[in-house]
Amino acid sequence: MKIFYKTKAEIEKLRVANLIVADILDLLEEHCRPGVSTAELNELAAKALKKAGAESAFLGYSNPPYPAVLCTSVNEVVVHGIPRRDVVLKDGDIIGLDFGAFKDGFCGDSARTVMVGKVPERVRRLVEATRRALDLAIEKCVVGNRLQDIGWAVQSYVEPLGYAVVRKFVGHGIGRAMHEDPQVPNFGEPNKGIKLKPGLVLAIEPMVNAGTADVEVLEDGWTAVTRDRQPSAHFEHSVAITEDRPIVLSRR
Ligand code: MF3
Ligand code: CO
Repeated sequence: MKIFYKTKAEIEKLRVANLIVADILDLLEEHCRPGVSTAELNELAAKALKKAGAESAFLGYSNPPYPAVLCTSVNEVVVHGIPRRDVVLKDGDIIGLDFGAFKDGFCGDSARTVMVGKVPERVRRLVEATRRALDLAIEKCVVGNRLQDIGWAVQSYVEPLGYAVVRKFVGHGIGRAMHEDPQVPNFGEPNKGIKLKPGLVLAIEPMVNAGTADVEVLEDGWTAVTRDRQPSAHFEHSVAITEDRPIVLSRR
């Protein structure tokens, strides 16, 4: 495991990349309305990326190569939903938008779950709990805490609400590469793992299921769905640990 601790200048570049991601997610969120296909959202994202003079962190990633610049994960899709012309948003859906970009050699990565029209109370509560879990996790990003304090913050908040934390996918360090060490699970035990130090930059991304934690990857090699087909929510921020306080790089 090789952790790259970032200088202030490097964190500044990560900030630039992440703000591009944040602004494009804002734009996409406005377009999450009934009748819009996830392919259209992907096209919007690709255009905005070009305009920003940035490159996709997702397109062509891994094997099979990821085929789009955006992940669009609707309802029971946990993460890595591939945009499709025939997946059209409807009232009451939730959609996870996950977007990553490189600018000036550094990567930005962030995700959010958006509610389309009037979402059933039970699903809205899941989305809001997941958002809150990420905020609680970010609050743990202070020098002297340990890595698993982050996952514990997520797990200890959502499990008593009756939700399950996805274990198959985790957050990650981020820098010149989208995925750097260390892995950042959304579960853990308090006061365990490496000590958090200034210059550590983490993409923290809780995935929380309404039903059980089990996920299954579909034939396309990417789309991860809940095994019980109950809804799932996902939020992600890239966060820099500094001497005094966490800086949420992907939030304006
Ligand atoms: N934000 C996700 C991650 O951190 C999405 C990457 S999947 C990709 O892993 F294939 F689209 F790149
Ligand atoms: Co990520």
